[in-house]
Amino acid sequence: MEVVRTGAALRTARARLPGPVGAVLTMGALHAGHRSLVERARAECRSVVATIFVNPTQFGPAEDLARYPRDEAADLALLGAAGADLVFVPPVEEIYGPGFATSIDVGPIAEPLEGAARPGHFRGVATVVAILFELVRPERAYFGQKDAQQCLVVRRLVADLALPVEIVVCPTVREPDGLAVSSRNRYLSPAERTAALALHRALAAARDAYLAGERDAAALRRRIGEVLAAEPLVRVEYVSVADAATLTELERIGGPALLSQAARIGTTRLIDNEPIG
Ligand code: PAJ
Repeated sequence: MEVVRTGAALRTARARLPGPVGAVLTMGALHAGHRSLVERARAECRSVVATIFVNPTQFGPAEDLARYPRDEAADLALLGAAGADLVFVPPVEEIYGPGFATSIDVGPIAEPLEGAARPGHFRGVATVVAILFELVRPERAYFGQKDAQQCLVVRRLVADLALPVEIVVCPTVREPDGLAVSSRNRYLSPAERTAALALHRALAAARDAYLAGERDAAALRRRIGEVLAAEPLVRVEYVSVADAATLTELERIGGPALLSQAARIGTTRLIDNEPIG
């Protein structure tokens, strides 16, 4: 596995890789969720390129950029074991040169949910994803359903800018007890870790209600809210039952929908979602 830190070195190494090339973009602090993306790319592509870049422009001023976990040695070990061929680990200046000023706004899909809770977040994501796609030039790129709205933002970006990359969305990897794997889980105290299970329980309860025939979106939102409210350590930020393609809030479920939520447990912000229909 080769590790490169500049755009120039990346282009040289990339040119030697046989296609199709699959890309997995990450911010490091890698875990089983990231590993599943690399393994899927490994299984479907002749070459696999991973990137590790903690992108400052997608963090808000009050967010955890400074305390975002960094462990390059462990990340490279995981990527090597999962079968990456090439890893791009640029310093910030390599991505954002002097006077950098361009940003990409993908419009309404970036506005609700995470976009409303984290102003500017998806502008930062779309911009860095476009830059990384241009540098890596993958034929396919693998993203996690865990960040459902991010997947829609990236699909919009790729369609609108006619980027020659196929987006593959992979299922959310969970701990055996249902908690979605996240680099932020390490901030949870044991009591908070237990409380965090309410997120998955709430989605499962709503999904079960849907499977039992409930089609009223407000009833599903209430069901999620009740389960979360029963856990005193959980502070709900939003609960959504939305159209899976547009993320507009629904009244009734008539096709593919996305159940999603964000909550704070102590100082840690967690998100989770479940596609239905
Ligand atoms: P990061 O949070 O490191 O996530 C990198 C990729 O791993 C994303 O596609 C994310 O959805 C996926 N992922 C995270 N947890 C997962 C889980 N439990 N199961 C499956 N996939 C999971 O998302 C980002 O970085 C950044 O926004 C990035 C796209 C790299 C742009 O900076």
